[in-house]
Amino acid sequence: MIVVRTVADLREALRDRRTAPVGLVPTMGALHEGHATLLRAARRDNATVVMSIFVNPTQFNEQSDLAAYPRSEEADLALAEAEGVDVVFAPDAAEVYPQGFATTVSVTGAIAETLEGAERGRAHFDGVATVVTKLLLGALPDHAYFGAKDAQQVAVIRRLVADLGIPVTLMVCPTSRDDDGLARSSRNTRLSPEERARALAIPRALQEVTDAAATGITDPEALRARAMATLEASGIRPEYVALVDPATFAPVPVVEGVVLVAIAARVGATRLIDNTVIGGA
Ligand code: PAJ
Repeated sequence: MIVVRTVADLREALRDRRTAPVGLVPTMGALHEGHATLLRAARRDNATVVMSIFVNPTQFNEQSDLAAYPRSEEADLALAEAEGVDVVFAPDAAEVYPQGFATTVSVTGAIAETLEGAERGRAHFDGVATVVTKLLLGALPDHAYFGAKDAQQVAVIRRLVADLGIPVTLMVCPTSRDDDGLARSSRNTRLSPEERARALAIPRALQEVTDAAATGITDPEALRARAMATLEASGIRPEYVALVDPATFAPVPVVEGVVLVAIAARVGATRLIDNTVIGGA
């Protein structure tokens, strides 16, 4: 495994490897088992696996969140090596945003402006869209891997890849969960044991919506109310519980076909998101 810090070195490392599939797994480091599932999928599908580590400052809406974001490059490199990563691209901020940087990739409409876009502000998905565009253009992978846990991020990236005609196939991996059901996240390490126990109301609420929908309830408000009750019983007041079209993020007037159920909530000082898909085949 080699570690490169510049796009020039990344391109050099990949130059002779392009005759066979290249997979890219973008990350912000602080790797956990959720990231590992993406690396394994990439390892399975590609001759060369590239993983990026870059804590992207432009997508953080709160400076305190950026400052508190866990950084663990040594452990991250060990995990990457163990998962068979070939090339790690770990640039510094000046490599990604050099002096004079003045371009933003901005996806408009409900996909980027509702839910996470509304709670975290416009700049969040602009930051994600811009950095992911740069990572895709830097590595020019055949496949790029993203987690379904960040469903709105996936929708934003799908849109920009289609709109800008970036030649890459997006591969979306299922949400990886701890044994107790909590979606794995780098931020989970900030939860106290008591907060962690309360946070389990989030996956429980998603399961309840799934079960209720399976009994034939099609009113999104009725399903939302169930989730809200479960969350509130654990003292969680969510930022949102939403039932939306997974491609457009428009709210659904009635639950039929594939619907994304998304929750965001603060537990103590830690902001958590989770989602599930109901309906469909
Ligand atoms: P980060 O939060 O490090 O996540 C990197 C990738 O891992 C994302 O695609 C995310 O959806 C996926 N992931 C995180 N937790 C997961 C879980 N429990 N199960 C499955 N996949 C999981 O998301 C980002 O970084 C950044 O926004 C990035 C795309 C790198 C752009 O800066």
